[in-house]
Amino acid sequence: MTNNNMIFVANWKMHGNFNDISKVKTVLNLIKNKKYKKIKIIYCPPFTLLKSFSNYFNNTKLNIGAQNCYYKSDYGPYTGNVNAKLIKSAGAKYIILGHSENRNEGETDLLINQKIKSVLKEKLSIIFCIGETIDEKKKKITFQVLKRQISKGLKGIKNTNKIIIAYEPVWSIGSGIIPSRNELEKNIKNIKKILKQFKFKNSVKILYGGSVNSKNANEISKIDGIGGLLVGGASLNSKKFVDIIKKTSN
Ligand code: PGA
Repeated sequence: MTNNNMIFVANWKMHGNFNDISKVKTVLNLIKNKKYKKIKIIYCPPFTLLKSFSNYFNNTKLNIGAQNCYYKSDYGPYTGNVNAKLIKSAGAKYIILGHSENRNEGETDLLINQKIKSVLKEKLSIIFCIGETIDEKKKKITFQVLKRQISKGLKGIKNTNKIIIAYEPVWSIGSGIIPSRNELEKNIKNIKKILKQFKFKNSVKILYGGSVNSKNANEISKIDGIGGLLVGGASLNSKKFVDIIKKTSN
């Protein structure tokens, strides 16, 4: 059954300028409908738009998140970097961490763990991305990869209240290909199993991300254990994003 308190994350990646903020009006209009009372929408624009988004979203139900952060929690001489403190002061409450596009640029599990801790220090929430590459899938080591990413990424973290997991198979991101129902069910079950094994709370929400669109959103959201969707490309177009929300919240 589709649940009606889904989380929808719009990951704009390195897209968007000031004029694009007003497109969000379509989403604001949709959520005026009582039917969408319980859903949570988190917009993650580039750093440069965080403050403008937070001004625009003032007194609305929309939330703002950043797409990454620097691992040091204190201010200092770190040219070009943006930490959780700065992100918080721009009005964001969430930060995406561990996205494969950053892992791919050399971000390690250890660095992600340091970033998670720095974000928790500021009492912000984390959308923690995990997922296997196509090679890892072919080698049938998805379980081991997810276990490593979770155990190292969340090492030393006792309270997972502010952690949301986003399962994003790397091969699905931006490719138009999504896992089969069986595969997705199995991987979500395994993520829950791993969380339990490391004594992390069973209540941690798990989102799915990777080529979500209005055609596949409903099917994906019905899978047991999926509490929301992380949408990249399709979230840049408000009509498509609204369609995803509508299809998922019926
Ligand atoms: P996509 O991206 O929806 O464009 O596949 C998802 C993501 O990378 O967060």
